[in-house]
Amino acid sequence: MVTKITVVAPSSTANLGPGFDVFGLAVDAFYDEVTLTKKKTKKVSIVTEDDIPKNPEKNTAGLVVKNMIKKFKTKDGIEIKIKKNVPAGYGMGSSAASAAAAAVAFDKLYKLRLDGNSLVRFAGIGEKASAGTIHYDNVAASVLGGFVIVRTNPLDIIKIDPPTHLRMCIAVPKLIVPKKKTKVSRGVIPKKISFADSITNLSNATAIVAGFLNKDPELIGKSIKDVIVEPARKHMIPGFSKVKENALKAGAFGVTISGAGPSVIAFSKSSENNKKIGLAMTKGFDSAKIECHTIICKPSIGASIKK
Ligand code: HSE
Repeated sequence: MVTKITVVAPSSTANLGPGFDVFGLAVDAFYDEVTLTKKKTKKVSIVTEDDIPKNPEKNTAGLVVKNMIKKFKTKDGIEIKIKKNVPAGYGMGSSAASAAAAAVAFDKLYKLRLDGNSLVRFAGIGEKASAGTIHYDNVAASVLGGFVIVRTNPLDIIKIDPPTHLRMCIAVPKLIVPKKKTKVSRGVIPKKISFADSITNLSNATAIVAGFLNKDPELIGKSIKDVIVEPARKHMIPGFSKVKENALKAGAFGVTISGAGPSVIAFSKSSENNKKIGLAMTKGFDSAKIECHTIICKPSIGASIKK
């Protein structure tokens, strides 16, 4: 009988420009680690050395486990050990990574064999703890890996394997972010948009999908153009315009905010000079007197059991 399991789940980038709340991409940069251990007591407890909520009701992984216990009427208590490696509050899908790892670990621990949509639905419950609302773009990417398209009502995730030579350069600025950062940055999004803007974003979003299907990093990157959410959020990232301009000049195909920010993500391919792109982004943040560190990464295959 399995009594303990450890699952790692990757960081992710959401939106990819015009695909707000719809597109997600798992990125091979950081992985959260969640170990679930069955306990004789009825309690759900959190063990961690990281600065995250220890109350299971306020913790993304805790919420997922509590909901799964209720749904599947399992009788054990569960100890949730969390090792957070995805930096929280930077638009890298940190809350989603823990939630995804918890959902996949619970599924394996009880041999539930849930399908992808069900795992994503449970993992999405965890997002509520940090974002205030459930959005599935990050969790879907973190659970399933690769590029995902999220359809809701009913929840239905389409996964496409990304081109293996796609590369992302992510600049993570040293900024103090508000506690409920995603909630705050969702608050600045316009409630109404023009028909022309919706057409622009739709054309770019569909081109991104074509880029993933055709395994074409250049088409993906060149279609990362968002005239709705990025303009509304960019003021929250000092130096954003310069970071973007510099990365494009250095050869990136497209640049946008990673998820709700403040990290900025540039898309390119393995044969491009990605170090040069990273340096150009660092210089962009320098111009606003902001330090940052850059990571060059490829897509991730998603959550998996740690052997
Ligand atoms: N789609 C979400 C947002 C992702 O942009 O608010 C948050 O990581």
